[in-house]
Amino acid sequence: MRLHKLRLLIILSIAPIVVFLVAPSLSSASHTTLDQQLSSTLQAFGFTGRIESTLQERLGRNLDNRKIELGRLLWFDTIGGLNNDNTCGGCHSPTNAFGDTQSIAIGINNNLTVGPHRSGPRNQRRTPIIINAAFYPSLMWNSRFASLSRNPFDNTSGFAFPPPEQLTLSYLPHLLDAQAFIPPTERVEVAGFTFPGDNYAIRAEVLNRLNAVPEYRKLFGKIFPDVKNGAPINFDMFGEVIAEFEFSLVFTNAPIDQFARGQKNAMSESQKKGALLFFGRADCVACHRVSGQSNEMFSDFSQHVIGVPQIAPQPGNPSAGNVTFDGPGQNEDFGLEQVTRNSNDRYMFRTSPLRNAAMQPAFFHNGSFTRIEDAIRYHLNVSSSVNAYNPTSASVALDLRGPLGPMAPVLARLDPLLVDPIQLTDEEFAELVDFVENGLLDERARPENLRKLVPKSVPSGRPVLTFEFP
Ligand code: HEC
Ligand code: HEC
Repeated sequence: MRLHKLRLLIILSIAPIVVFLVAPSLSSASHTTLDQQLSSTLQAFGFTGRIESTLQERLGRNLDNRKIELGRLLWFDTIGGLNNDNTCGGCHSPTNAFGDTQSIAIGINNNLTVGPHRSGPRNQRRTPIIINAAFYPSLMWNSRFASLSRNPFDNTSGFAFPPPEQLTLSYLPHLLDAQAFIPPTERVEVAGFTFPGDNYAIRAEVLNRLNAVPEYRKLFGKIFPDVKNGAPINFDMFGEVIAEFEFSLVFTNAPIDQFARGQKNAMSESQKKGALLFFGRADCVACHRVSGQSNEMFSDFSQHVIGVPQIAPQPGNPSAGNVTFDGPGQNEDFGLEQVTRNSNDRYMFRTSPLRNAAMQPAFFHNGSFTRIEDAIRYHLNVSSSVNAYNPTSASVALDLRGPLGPMAPVLARLDPLLVDPIQLTDEEFAELVDFVENGLLDERARPENLRKLVPKSVPSGRPVLTFEFP
């Protein structure tokens, strides 16, 4: 038996006795028991609900509002995209907690709209939520950007990236500073195919553009004295202000955090029961971990085959993709194998962190489900779910409704943790969904609270993309 299960069993068996001895009256006893069980469970997993308050201490400094503000302007300015039509915010959108508006991201040659009506050629995967990424020890669906110390705030073991960057970005203070070097160089995301040259040449061109805008020189100059004294803006500075904006998007004050800090009425009874299933019988926490290096993010930041239906843009469609998918039929995603080149890693993806997931319009690396309850139900019995999967009833976009990529080889590698179906009653299932959907949601991640972050204008004077807020 795994250690955490054993600990949980002991706690669950002792907790009711303790509560019975101290319960003031029978009517409140069941509430007290539930609260007590959940508190003990969270304690056993080392969940404190206080991770947000550790940010500045782990950075070793306070956040700088001037950097946050400049990072925000760059987030929404297409000046950083050599194709002139996309930027971070086109995919990491405040309409969806700084995640995608799509099942599979649309990058260059889009219609300048961000929301349900975005159109253009698709890339390969869904854009993850940036909120709380400051606490992720590895980034991307296949963890191809990682802090080798398993701590994103600690560069001493290096930050690993695929070629050509590899370990060269390890001098930067945080994994997100290093990550910001990559998107501007992605041709299908923002750079386009016309500019000649490698990643270094693309970055140099982005910097030429920034240095040619007096307003950017002024704003960078306020933060970096060298720029004020005439030195050019460089990419370290770009990464630093982008990362600072991302640090300002740490929102971990969900009902589960408030409960863990002692506010027992922050969660409904149904969410509490759902949480006990998540950490208990349904064993979601085996992968969606909270302890230690998981930084209370509900992910082990490791890779698993969970058998997600292989959907892909259909060729010949106006929005047919501009990335060639894997496999003989070019309708597969090999996940971790793309990084390690080891066929044993085929179809493995990083466990999704679950905070604020309810703000996403689609789930899994390819958005093959558009309702969170469907994504959760899928885990309970993967092989029967694969057979029942239908992209039309899952309501994915029309261009993604073609025949699935092969599923037999995926199921053959299914993670042992998901081989045996998990039995839940309808009521229990509803509680589990309630917990994931609402118990992990910080109100600040809602679109109405993020709307104010879209600037009316940006320093380059280019038009700001059109965001379709609900
Ligand atoms: C074309 C859409 C698109 C644009 C534009 C874009 N991203 Fe992303 N971003 C993605 C996708 C898709 C992924 C996941 C890709 C993968 O795993 O293969 C991702 C992943 C990330 C991650 C890792 C998140 C995680 O959960 O691991 C960070 C951080 C990030 N992007 C930051 C940025 C920044 C900063 C910019 C602008 C400089 C940017 N992105 C521009 C689509 C985009
Ligand atoms: C074997 C490890 C494992 C277990 C156990 C597990 N998950 Fe997952 N979960 C994953 C992985 C890996 C992904 C991402 C898969 C992908 O997109 O390719 C994921 C994705 C999800 C998503 C979609 C999130 C998103 O942003 O797309 C939800 C919701 C989810 N899991 C909830 C649960 C719940 C609830 C349970 C317990 C019933 C559970 N998971 C058990 C590994 C696991």
